[in-house]
Amino acid sequence: MTTSTNLTKRVLSGMRPTGKLHLGNYVGALDNWVRMQDEYQCFFEVADWHALTTDYADTSRVKENSLEVALDWLAAGLDPEKSVIFIQSHVPAHAELHLLFSMITPLGWLERVPTYKEQRENIKDKDLGTYGFLGYPVLQSADILIYKADVVPVGEDQVAHVELTREIARRFNGFYGEVFPEPKSLLTVAPKLPGSDGRKMSKSYGNTILLTDAEPVVRQKLKTMVTDPARVRRSDPGNPDVCPVGDLHKIFSDRATMDKVNVGCRSAGIGCIECKSWAADALVQLLSPMQERRKKFEENPRLAWDILEAGSERARKAAGETMKDVRAAMGMGLQYEGADQFGSG
Ligand code: TRP
Ligand code: SF4
Repeated sequence: MTTSTNLTKRVLSGMRPTGKLHLGNYVGALDNWVRMQDEYQCFFEVADWHALTTDYADTSRVKENSLEVALDWLAAGLDPEKSVIFIQSHVPAHAELHLLFSMITPLGWLERVPTYKEQRENIKDKDLGTYGFLGYPVLQSADILIYKADVVPVGEDQVAHVELTREIARRFNGFYGEVFPEPKSLLTVAPKLPGSDGRKMSKSYGNTILLTDAEPVVRQKLKTMVTDPARVRRSDPGNPDVCPVGDLHKIFSDRATMDKVNVGCRSAGIGCIECKSWAADALVQLLSPMQERRKKFEENPRLAWDILEAGSERARKAAGETMKDVRAAMGMGLQYEGADQFGSG
């Protein structure tokens, strides 16, 4: 096993607090994070400042959504004994490093980031012509580099941000001396996960299955899920490869079930109702232990806040170490040993 040697390597990743997480968030990111905990020293942040880059006008739900995300993380198996689980805004040094990086980041680098161009074009209901929105990948770079992370597990859409992070690290090191390692992105290969309408599962489509959905809700959502359109009648054969329920089986069902689906669907030997109930079984089996773990935190949110606060304290320590290096490299550190230029922050 290489496990123990890798534990010296650091991982950082984050999610915006969008509220309750769904299966797409789980198979696209969270299940991967859970596994990484045993191989790396992990930092996972609830990126609440990132949420403000698009949702600055109404901040009334940020805190509540941050807790929701953290509850889902704990439910899914992120373990505060293994990982540092924290809230971005509780580590103010991210803002300091963001400021310093903003001084050295050419505007052209930011204007070229694909997510920037895309979102400026696609999101019309809010004004994204802000300084913060353009600079958001710089904030993300600060998130990553302040922990000197080696590895950043992300989805496809975030790879360009990690690339920018490497460029900022290189530029900083070039100006002021070697402080930051260049992090690598670890692309999470997310299987195709359809929502109930057959499109990609996404909060904005309203087609999600939440990690908190109780068994009857899961079964109901499966019942209304679209299937292979060629299978109009029970006697029509179908094809699991073009059926969203078939996709769910591929991800969540065991081999034996998968075989029954393949044979039964193609020969019209099984009905869609039966087939969907097997998919629901697999989901319930995955979700119920999570919901069991979530209970104690839901009943007593204080427990979760305590975890987040302890995590944020550990994060502040680690971030503080890096900021000492940063200030020293820039010739802006303490004048003499023991001077308390920055308080305890
Ligand atoms: N920008 C990421 C997203 O929108 C979330 C995020 C914030 C993040 N900070 C990060 C991801 C640092 C990886 C590393 O999904
Ligand atoms: Fe889809 Fe299953 Fe119906 Fe085949 S039997 S079309 S895989 S729901």
